[in-house]
Amino acid sequence: METIKITHPAILKEKPDPDKLGFGKYFTDHMFVMDYSTDKGWYDPRIVPYGPFMLDPASMVLHYAQEVFEGLKAYRRADGGIQLFRVKENIARMNRSCERLSIPQIDEELFFEALKTLVEVDQDWVPSAPDTSLYLRPFVFATEPHVGVHASHSYIFAIIASPVGAYYAEGINPVRIYIESRDVRAVKGGTGYAKTGGNYAATLRAGEEAEKAGFSQVLWLDGIHRKYIEEVGSMNVLFKIDGKVITPPLGGSILPGVTRSSCLEILKSWGVPCSEELITVDDLISAAESGKLEEAWGSGTAAVISPIGEIYYDNKHHIINGGKIGELTGKLYDYLTGIQWGRIEDPFGWITRII
Ligand code: COI
Repeated sequence: METIKITHPAILKEKPDPDKLGFGKYFTDHMFVMDYSTDKGWYDPRIVPYGPFMLDPASMVLHYAQEVFEGLKAYRRADGGIQLFRVKENIARMNRSCERLSIPQIDEELFFEALKTLVEVDQDWVPSAPDTSLYLRPFVFATEPHVGVHASHSYIFAIIASPVGAYYAEGINPVRIYIESRDVRAVKGGTGYAKTGGNYAATLRAGEEAEKAGFSQVLWLDGIHRKYIEEVGSMNVLFKIDGKVITPPLGGSILPGVTRSSCLEILKSWGVPCSEELITVDDLISAAESGKLEEAWGSGTAAVISPIGEIYYDNKHHIINGGKIGELTGKLYDYLTGIQWGRIEDPFGWITRII
């Protein structure tokens, strides 16, 4: 494995107020960068001062959106140590996204070393205030200057890091979700299961409209029948209906969330009945109307466990659990975050200590 060269900036940045981090607004002193060319493969892995890239205006990512990304967090433990959560899952998913977007695979060991070295170098940026962490954003994009449509012959793989608090302004308070029936996010056979920018670009129009109407996010229906619940762009969704937890199955158009699968594994270990099954929007609304929809929450690295207090569909508001966080949602939040921040022992082997 090639060694990672490290260059430091001449002046270090001032750290932001840990109580006002928000999400993804501040970036650390360093970033990881590595190049790819067809002749050399991936080469020159390095940690450099955080700063802009110089890009040819014809770089293929700017025209055909050939890019993928990931999101994971480094957590500060009470004993001062730092740990990652299910890092191998994020690395493997990024390579699956690369495969879908015809981007060359990245060596998994080098990927892990890159994450670890960046966190070590920028360790003072891992915040310790409650519910804060260092969000790591690996991404790859096509750099070949060419406006013909084909897979690029050159790429940059980079990792940037951002100290973050809660993703939603609501924090752990329930969010209001708008079920979209005009736009769709993804279709089977498309790129829905890959973490690629185009999936998110397609959601912005509906997202902006939902936001104007006072909703935090859009809940997407499947692109073909327009009736099956899929996901919320920035998170997967889980519902507790009549005592059982259900979440839509991964059929190719939904992101295989690491937090989603962690929720399912934790719930199973607790003996809570749960299953991955198709759920129609009509069934969801009937469950809400009859009071059988007991709890709903979103799951994601950025969103963690985000209770859903209201869904809006077909001009009607449906309040879930009186608009308050559900008992199981709260228990899951405490347990998952307990493992992530090292407050609870990890029985699943999900944690990797870095420092
Ligand atoms: C994540 O949860 O890490 C995401 O990538 C979701 C969003 C911030 C795009």
